[in-house]
Amino acid sequence: MKKTSLAVALAATLALPATATELEVTHWWTSGGEAAAVAEFAKAFNAGGDTWVDGAIAGSGGTARPIIISRILGGQPMGATQLNHGRQAEELIEAGLMLDITDLAEAEGWRDFVNPSSLLDSCTLDGRIYCVPVNIHSAQWMWLNNAAFEKVGLPVPTNWDEFVAAGPALEAAGIVPLAMGQQSWQTQLAFGALAIALLDYDTWAAVNTEKNAEVAAGAEYRRVFEAFDDARRLAVGSNVQDWNQATNMVITGTAAAQIHGDWAQGEFQVAGQVAGEDYTCLPGLGFNDVLDTGGDAFYFPVNDDPEITAAQLRLASLLISKDVQVAFNLKKGSLPVRGDIDLSAANACMQKGLEILASGNILPGGAQNFSEDTNTQLNDLMTAFWNDLSITVDQVQADYAAIIASAD
Ligand code: GAL
Repeated sequence: MKKTSLAVALAATLALPATATELEVTHWWTSGGEAAAVAEFAKAFNAGGDTWVDGAIAGSGGTARPIIISRILGGQPMGATQLNHGRQAEELIEAGLMLDITDLAEAEGWRDFVNPSSLLDSCTLDGRIYCVPVNIHSAQWMWLNNAAFEKVGLPVPTNWDEFVAAGPALEAAGIVPLAMGQQSWQTQLAFGALAIALLDYDTWAAVNTEKNAEVAAGAEYRRVFEAFDDARRLAVGSNVQDWNQATNMVITGTAAAQIHGDWAQGEFQVAGQVAGEDYTCLPGLGFNDVLDTGGDAFYFPVNDDPEITAAQLRLASLLISKDVQVAFNLKKGSLPVRGDIDLSAANACMQKGLEILASGNILPGGAQNFSEDTNTQLNDLMTAFWNDLSITVDQVQADYAAIIASAD
């Protein structure tokens, strides 16, 4: 072998980690768009010489999180796991079960480029950093099938009220106006999106940040419950379970619209549909151009094998790196966590999201406002109201205010 090619081979070997390490990575990204996105993470980790052992858990976060948490508590931890950044890992961190990655974050200057910096705050407990944020997902979007409205001779709605007004014409044409998966977190997400879209910030914050039950029971919030009542009646024909099945109803024109997070974009992209041509996106449901900065992060359960720990840190560094952030977020339909990368390839809807992000008109996401226990109570309440049309607006609002009164 010539000297030069030997030197090149040696250099390439040295670039690989000292010991190629397998990491089992758990997540709940199993839809078409989600799988395409997480494959970008796996590809990058494997290209670095380590091995990504995929631990996809089918179902929503509500299904996956208890499995993930019980494995860590039960002493059978994975190498890394997705969770929503915010308070979901709080108890695991307090129990000393999650790797402190502050030194890596400081060495790489994450605080200088993570945007908004609140994302890093959502990974921080008592001044120490325990997760690497990987995207910004916001729930306050509405996705509309342009052809469905053309079919009934109506312009594509520019806001929630115009959509509600189009309901009867859509139903008469055999089109389900609103697609909704039947899992409770989806109806709770729709309620949250309507609240952010229809309320001013102070009213929203009084309930979601200050837990003010009086405001929750007040006239402004009644408008949200009345809109939520419209939504449940417009979704009567939507009998699917998973969020991406509901998205597919919109993609195929079986339904006209869906209130859902921007991860729905991944499904439109996998289906080859073009933002602005085949479908329309309405951030803030066409009223409030505001987005919540919910999203995903990766956490690393502690273990006593230094090679695993070294591989965990390599993965953390990779997930927030520029190239991987672009490759992943373009596929995921989410926004990047860095303010210093070129996303010119982003489609029209992602560009809308980036403009809102740049405007600073952002709010914390649900996982960052309420504890898991409170979120579960809210999910259950919204599902009960959604599925039982005999429950009145007065009743559900009173029950909601009671939960807020004891929220933590
Ligand atoms: C969210 C997560 C998103 C998306 C969604 C549906 O919690 O942040 O990445 O995948 O679940 O699975």
